[in-house]
Amino acid sequence: MPICDAELIQWAVKAREKSYSPYSDFSVGAALLAKNGKLYLGCNIENAAFTPGICAERTAFSKALSEGDKDFEAIAIVGGKEGGNLDHICAPCGVCRQFIREFTEPATFRILLAPLNAPEKITSYTLEQLLPESFGPDNLK
Ligand code: THU
Repeated sequence: MPICDAELIQWAVKAREKSYSPYSDFSVGAALLAKNGKLYLGCNIENAAFTPGICAERTAFSKALSEGDKDFEAIAIVGGKEGGNLDHICAPCGVCRQFIREFTEPATFRILLAPLNAPEKITSYTLEQLLPESFGPDNLK
């Protein structure tokens, strides 16, 4: 059965439970849906040396790509600071937007965002909306 947007957000909430974020206390979860129906979960993983840390979105994509999946439909992302304000959506950072650009169709790939304290309030963007006039593989041809 195809997975709906609300379910994808719920998977992102579940993925967030695994976040390793002792330095920022900002836990992020992502659920990436491949076109073949497979689901890949990711969380942010921080590091004492700071720069080696990775965002939830890139964790999910790296899992999928390293398993051989390369066609993607949508990603759901939720994030927030422990004990902080959970009213806001967690939009993907610039690095993640560019990373996602490499492996998706900007006009159709969907990014679903919802606040942790109101997960039913889902905002859906295409990658193109979040990263207009983007630079991608075709630019190097
Ligand atoms: N973070 C993500 O995992 N995804 C985003 O799109 C925004 C930021 C993580 C990185 C870092 O571990 C923490 O959130 C605070 O920036």
